[in-house]
Amino acid sequence: MNIPENLCSTVQASAPGRVNLLGEHTDYNDGFVLPIAIPQRTTVALTRNGTASEFAVRTGAFEGEARFSFGTPPTEQFATYVYGCIAGLGARGVHVPGLDIGVDSQVPMGVGLSSSAALEVATLRALRDLLALNLDDVAIALLAQRAETEYAGVHCGIMDQMASSLADSGSMLFLDTRTLDRRLLPLPPGSGLLVLDSGISRSLANTAYNRRRAECQEAARLLGVESLRDVGGIAALDALPETLRRRARHVTTENARVLRAREGVDAAEFGRLMNASHASLRDDFEVSIEPLDRLVALLQSDPGVYGARLTGAGFGGACVALCQAGHERAVARRVLSCYANHRGRLLVPPPEPHIIR
Ligand code: GLA
Repeated sequence: MNIPENLCSTVQASAPGRVNLLGEHTDYNDGFVLPIAIPQRTTVALTRNGTASEFAVRTGAFEGEARFSFGTPPTEQFATYVYGCIAGLGARGVHVPGLDIGVDSQVPMGVGLSSSAALEVATLRALRDLLALNLDDVAIALLAQRAETEYAGVHCGIMDQMASSLADSGSMLFLDTRTLDRRLLPLPPGSGLLVLDSGISRSLANTAYNRRRAECQEAARLLGVESLRDVGGIAALDALPETLRRRARHVTTENARVLRAREGVDAAEFGRLMNASHASLRDDFEVSIEPLDRLVALLQSDPGVYGARLTGAGFGGACVALCQAGHERAVARRVLSCYANHRGRLLVPPPEPHIIR
């Protein structure tokens, strides 16, 4: 039998999740961020199914299958990210033929490690390969962000998609989210990363995220600047009402912390910047919750830790710590044994079966 080659070939691509080390809630204020890719990746496999525009997405994580056609979005959230990528390409005049899509992900979901960005970037990379599209990694990140904002309804910044598309797990990605200027930087010498899940799901995250975003826009409007990135220093914030002043103070001091870290500080100073970031997210930006504060305090008081903070949007999810290199798993064991929540767990370095709690 003579099967046309394009009907039986499968294209596969992958992309990592990310953990943000410094620069939280700064990306939608045109500010600076410092994420790093995590070792866990999402893999997407595409096979042409011979139809003009019928799609089926299968993923082990959600059991079952989502089906959709071009112009009719799926109801399943995970498939919406895939749909957004296909529709975004469609809006650029690229016709994507009907596909069977397999998704396999090791990126922990719902904890602030950008599993959705990893899915979007992996999908777009696979589509780029399948259709020989002329898209560089920045174009992929921008299309992925658009999938999220226009089709999945999450008004995120550009950090997650840029990190998934451009970062690697050996270097931090310094990114100016206004200009998209970027630079890969080494972790401070002698340090390694630890990410722990607080076990608290981020149920409030979307609503609170959109509210914080609106508060930042309002603060910028009152200050007469395009975005909070343009505030000269915290003295300029005195004119703002109390709550908006604290929101703007977080963004201003957080940008300064990222710029300081970019200069190449040692692990001790980097850790102090992370601790200050957590305090600012807790007190000024008010996106922490008690279990996150408790987990961060346990990490900060461990002798193997330089500094720790919540990571991602907040209201639950994961914490990140900068540890003495080689001590990450020992720190995780000590901290999780004191953290009174049985759903707390090690996420990075990827757990080995014998130390999963
Ligand atoms: C989420 C968003 C990002 C960023 C962070 C907070 O991860 O997707 O764009 O705003 O929250 O720093």
